[in-house]
Amino acid sequence: MTEKRSIPIMKPYFDDSEAQAVAEVLASGWVAQGPRVAEFEKAVAAYEGSRFGIATTSCTTALHLALVGMGFGTGDDVLVPSYTFVATPNSVEYTGATAILVEVRTDTYTIDTDWLEDFIPQQYQQQGDNWINRDSGNRLRGIIPVHLFGLCADMEAVNRIARQYKLLVLEDSACALGAMIGDTHEGSFGNPSALSFHPRKSITTGEGGMVLTNDEQLANQLRKLRSHAASLSEVQRHQNRGYLLPDYDELGFNYRMTDIQAAVGVAQMKKLDFIRDERRRIAAIYDREIPKYAPYLTIPLEPDGYTHIYQTYASMVNPERLGFSTIEEAHDFRNELMEYLDDAGIATRQGTHTTHILGYYRKLRKLQPYDLPGSYACDRLSLALPLYVGLSESDQFYVLEHLRNFSREKGIN
Ligand SMILES: Cc1ncc(COP(=O)(O)O)c(C=O)c1O
Repeated sequence: MTEKRSIPIMKPYFDDSEAQAVAEVLASGWVAQGPRVAEFEKAVAAYEGSRFGIATTSCTTALHLALVGMGFGTGDDVLVPSYTFVATPNSVEYTGATAILVEVRTDTYTIDTDWLEDFIPQQYQQQGDNWINRDSGNRLRGIIPVHLFGLCADMEAVNRIARQYKLLVLEDSACALGAMIGDTHEGSFGNPSALSFHPRKSITTGEGGMVLTNDEQLANQLRKLRSHAASLSEVQRHQNRGYLLPDYDELGFNYRMTDIQAAVGVAQMKKLDFIRDERRRIAAIYDREIPKYAPYLTIPLEPDGYTHIYQTYASMVNPERLGFSTIEEAHDFRNELMEYLDDAGIATRQGTHTTHILGYYRKLRKLQPYDLPGSYACDRLSLALPLYVGLSESDQFYVLEHLRNFSREKGIN
């Protein structure tokens, strides 16, 4: 019998450089937002081909900050794919605007733009330049495509729909640092975007986020709002006899990243290409071997011309391949499989949840699971497998063998 191992879903990739960078910040005495944050913002923005980076405490706060800066508020509808982490629609709701949960494609897990083309004219009525929600009277004002699991949404189609209905676009790039369509990095599709540096992401600062934008006015506004909307920045205040506090003429936030975190981020950025290449190499092994070891799993799609960075390696249990006639039967199979893998020391997760069935949105939007069948299927059937820099081939085959053993024990080949 093989010895039980312990394989996490994800591990951050550090060496001595992060500890060294943190030690330098501590020795400097300036540990709050300062020069390291500015350096980190420049490094990320330059990498993604964006003009400005505004670091924040998380992607959730980056999304919220960007939405406030873009002027969203009560009476606005924002289209959000239902199959995403709850932080995406929550960031809309914080502003007083309404997150309208929409469908995703089950092959890419990203927003289904064909579905949207039918939905928008059904749900909204044109009045002059505006599209008004037939039920609530809200104005359709925005869309948040999510580059889920490290694969970009179809941005050509999203931007086309946005032009057609005059929508502002904010990209949720929490999972997508380094992802591309053709030669274009996420962050360079012409819209503001929000990144995450949570440890489940490619690079980490512990917690952290960043808005990327090419719009200088928006960048300045977001810098101000993230720091209580102070009319002078900390640096300006200290250059100008720091004992007097400036005016605070808007409702701002404290969404500042610390220099301790940013120093880790700067060190992590130097490893980003290596991390991306390693993750892609390990994902390619799953892609190659899963059809042999676990043909009942559908591997994640990387459409032609897209660079997936596999922040999550999200496969899907295939009900037809298993001879199930309902999603619920396949869902039970997936959950039993996760338990079996857990018993063998292998951590898995469902890809993410679909938000229209979570308590808050279920009560508020009154959607039934099958109102968005694609999103619901992704919730019930997705299975994320361990993937991180340092996952050995031997551990990866341990995972694959357990995927095979489980189906054999169930009498499925
Ligand atoms: C798609 C998506 N958006 C937003 C977030 C929120 O990111 P953070 O944890 O940095 O606030 C996450 C986190 O997992 C996410 O997956």
